[in-house]
Amino acid sequence: MLERVSFGRVPPKPHLVFRADSGALYYEECITRGGFDGAFSIVYHQQRPHEAEPGPAEHGFGLPQVAPAATLARRHFRCLELPNTGGAPLDCRAPLLFNEHVVLGFARPTSSDPAYFVNADADELYFILRGSGTLRSLFGDLAFQPGDYLCVPKGTLHRFELAAGSEQAWLSIECLGGVGIPVHYRNAVGQLKMDAPYSHRDFRRPEFVGPVDEGIRKLVVKRGQAFFGYRLAHTPLDVVGWDGAVYPFVFPISAFQPRVGQVHLPPPVHTTFEARGAVICSFVPRPLDFHPNANPCPYPHSSVDVDEVLFYANGAFASRRGIGEGSLSHHPAGIPHGPHPGAYENAPGQTRTDELAVMLDVSGALFATPEARAVEDGQYHASFRAQ
Ligand SMILES: [Fe+2]
Repeated sequence: MLERVSFGRVPPKPHLVFRADSGALYYEECITRGGFDGAFSIVYHQQRPHEAEPGPAEHGFGLPQVAPAATLARRHFRCLELPNTGGAPLDCRAPLLFNEHVVLGFARPTSSDPAYFVNADADELYFILRGSGTLRSLFGDLAFQPGDYLCVPKGTLHRFELAAGSEQAWLSIECLGGVGIPVHYRNAVGQLKMDAPYSHRDFRRPEFVGPVDEGIRKLVVKRGQAFFGYRLAHTPLDVVGWDGAVYPFVFPISAFQPRVGQVHLPPPVHTTFEARGAVICSFVPRPLDFHPNANPCPYPHSSVDVDEVLFYANGAFASRRGIGEGSLSHHPAGIPHGPHPGAYENAPGQTRTDELAVMLDVSGALFATPEARAVEDGQYHASFRAQ
């Protein structure tokens, strides 16, 4: 995922006998991707990491279901109007749009997770619209704040600890085929290239804190779109050290280095992460196109292979109106889309945009859920009609 790092105590080679000063043996846990061929990390536990007994699944968030639609239409969902049931991140996420590659959801948690969670179905990518806190995992503590992307790799045991008094609003993207940094941003030895839109220094990694016992013995595992409960024999955070390239990380959207062209550049220049069947792009404040006769407004287009999703972190989005903070738009393939009436016509001469948004281009049809349809702006498709 990112470059190899090492924290705490690790032996000189993997799979060697490794003991505490007391003589007790430490236990390896190898966390591998792509079978044994992909990126991996090796974590060293004080106790056997594979002791968990099945129990009731007392937690779990909403799983996506299709809300049948009579028309193929451009849609707009107001995420901040979703019923705020509150509760823990593990319980309160609402699914909104999904297909075989991604599940987009929205969460407004009000309390910290009371159990540990392993998502064995998907890498998770969050965009923190509001709120702050700590992702606590066996890799250490990772603080997050508004404007952060937070990536939690598949299989990472973790829980969220919310900052006191902090109102939370998170976009979540479950990436069922994984998510990571585009290969074309890396050089032959894996470094981020000097013309990538970010550098290694922009990413925040977990702060290793050593063995921790929070007294929590509950674990919830999501596998095959179902939740399963376990009772742990001891704290799973009994880690004395680890190294590897698989771990959660944060990337602040404000660190994304946008590109600007003589004339309008297409969305791939904003690509931040790549998932199976999807790209995740960051639209950030930037100067606009500098040809003296440029029209800096996005042109109407038919992108015939992908559905487009935009999540608006603020309402200053030049080509769209009627949207605001927390809006989620879905423009399906099959019908062209473009700017609202007036935006294309009024854009020439504009030199700057203050937009802040997360965009996904997703292969294959996305389906809206009943939760999404309940907060749909029913006038959105018609709002593109010239008056
Ligand atoms: Fe588009």
